[in-house]
Amino acid sequence: MKLEVARAAIKYVVPNSIIGVGTGSTANFFIDELATIKDAISGTVASSVVTAERLQSHGIEVIDLNNVKEISVYIDGADESDKELNLIKGGGGALTREKIVAAVAKRFVCIADESKLVSVMGNFPLPVEVIPMSVSYVKKQISKSIGGSPIIREGFTTDNGNLILDIHGLKIENPKTLENKLNNIVGVVTNGLFANRGADILLLGTPNGVETISPDFL
Ligand code: 5RP
Repeated sequence: MKLEVARAAIKYVVPNSIIGVGTGSTANFFIDELATIKDAISGTVASSVVTAERLQSHGIEVIDLNNVKEISVYIDGADESDKELNLIKGGGGALTREKIVAAVAKRFVCIADESKLVSVMGNFPLPVEVIPMSVSYVKKQISKSIGGSPIIREGFTTDNGNLILDIHGLKIENPKTLENKLNNIVGVVTNGLFANRGADILLLGTPNGVETISPDFL
């Protein structure tokens, strides 16, 4: 299913433009598909070091975001999505760079298998990227004002040199409010809720083929 959605995403690639590329096993399938049409694009912006390395191993150019005028489309996976295409991302720990590339891109196409679509998000622990010296403060603030159980991701450092707290046990009824509240805690770099900038289109892999979900059609 991940391979099928990755293939389906190719039709959203805008020729002669810069493509934003996500991180994770579904994004990896997309990178391998993108390699087959690499001469049709102007280059890519990668959302992680590991994605940059995979793109380069296929001979696909990776450009620094600061040297790019426009990203036509960002293609990436997700850990959870609701029907409005609010997402939880960051299972792979690349949430901050993913959020930056998604913010710049004109369009965000999310690719996922059907297990990722849920009615209320929160079953997947919500990742929060935190400046190392603030971990204990941020944990206390989350317990006090957000709820859930923030647990440090052991042995993991982000590409930005920070740590991840995964918040377990949330039921996310209002994703935008929670995204903003968490980002207001001093020491939080960002969190894995993509609600203020969710996906524009979700390509969902099902046993019966790829479904296209867009909030415009709800
Ligand atoms: C990485 C991510 C990924 O998109 C998310 O974890 C989904 O991964 P996969 O495609 O392997 O299921 O946000 O930080």
